[in-house]
Order: sequence, then structure tokens, then C-alpha cells
Amino acid sequence: MEPNVFEEMAKRYDTEERVKLANIVVEEVKKELQDSTSKTLIDYGSGTGLVSLELTDMVKSVLLVDSSEQMVEVAKSKITQRGFMNADVLYSNFTQGAPNLKADIVLMSLVLLHIPDTESILQELFTILNDGGELIIVDFDKNENISHPKVHNGFVHEELKDQLSEAGFRSTEVRTFHHGHQIFMKQDASMFIASSSK
Ligand SMILES: C[S@@+](CC[C@H](N)C(=O)[O-])C[C@H]1O[C@@H](n2cnc3c(N)ncnc32)[C@H](O)[C@@H]1O
Repeated sequence: MEPNVFEEMAKRYDTEERVKLANIVVEEVKKELQDSTSKTLIDYGSGTGLVSLELTDMVKSVLLVDSSEQMVEVAKSKITQRGFMNADVLYSNFTQGAPNLKADIVLMSLVLLHIPDTESILQELFTILNDGGELIIVDFDKNENISHPKVHNGFVHEELKDQLSEAGFRSTEVRTFHHGHQIFMKQDASMFIASSSK
């Protein structure tokens, strides 16, 4: 199996820049979570929990899922240290088949760009959502200055909307919410949030 770069990064992932960017994401995701205190949320590709561990007050429960064991370990120790009673972790990669799980909300923050087969992960996440559920994707807008064999160089809103519709989602709203200096592989870039209903 190929080495997972995120395994090596986990213990030094929470840099000042990443925390700053995550907090910008948190503020944007909060707008989507009004009236969600009875809902369960899966943070898919949670990393160390920089985003979803700031959202625990807004939902009933949070499950942090990641395909890097080290990321999961870091997230788990934060949960213990900070005493969250409604947060848990799962080491899993849904691209190899999703486990038998259900959630009202799935959040994916800066993860879709790392998954080669966009369509198949969107289908897995659709299956996991309860009827009426919501998929929230935060990622980078298409950026032609970036080219990397293992990373999508962002997404075009209309193309992503089509893929979400193909996966079965009824409707999707997408908006760009942040422009930042050197935030995507050392290039200036902008980020979008997409909210899709099952
Ligand atoms: C850039 S980090 C984002 C972490 C977090 N969501 C945030 O916004 O701070 C990407 C994360 O996605 C995870 N990841 C990449 N591919 C994945 C996959 N196929 N399934 C689950 N997690 C994955 C990585 O291990 C890493 O923790």
C-alpha cells in the first residue's frame, strides 16, 4: 500500500495557519447548522478535528471519521482531554465501501480534493445520509495554477453540482466564501461551501 502522507503529518498538523483557516471554515459551517441540535453529524476526513470539534454544541453528536490512523488518534486524545461527551472517532475509508452507518449531516472539509474518484465517494455519502439529510462540502474553487498528480486542483461549482445530482441529491447550493493568500499548495485561492439535500 502507498504511504499515507497524512499519517506522517498528524502530530504536527495543527499549525497556526491551519487553525486559522479551520476557524474560518467553522464560522461558515455554523451558518448551515442552525436548528441542528437534534441531528447527528459525521465529519468525513476529520483530520485532527479542527473543524468538527468546534461544532459539538450545535449538533446532537459528532463522529469523526478518517482514513489516517494517526489523525484519528490525535482527534481521540483531544476528545478525551477536552471532555466531549457527544463526540467519537472512527478509523475508516469509505472509498473501500462504507460501513453500516447513518447520519443526518455529513461534513467534508478539504477532503474531496484528496479523493480521486469524486463520483463514487459522493454516492457512498448519499447512502449514509438519512432521508432529508444534508451533505456539506467545503473545498477549493478550481485553480489552474495548481497541478499535482494526487490532488484535484479545486472544483467548478456547476460540475460538482452535476455530480451531486447524479449521486441522487435533490438540490445543491454553492457559494464562495473566502479568498486567502497562499492557502492552497502555497497559491492564493478561494474556498466554497456546498450544501446538498437528500
Ligand atoms: C486537508 S485534511 C482536512 C482535515 C479536516 N477536515 C480540516 O478541515 O481541518 C484532509 C483529511 O482527509 C483525510 N482523508 C484523505 N482521504 C481520505 C479518505 N479516502 N477517507 C477518509 N479520510 C480521508 C486525510 O487523512 C486528512 O486527515
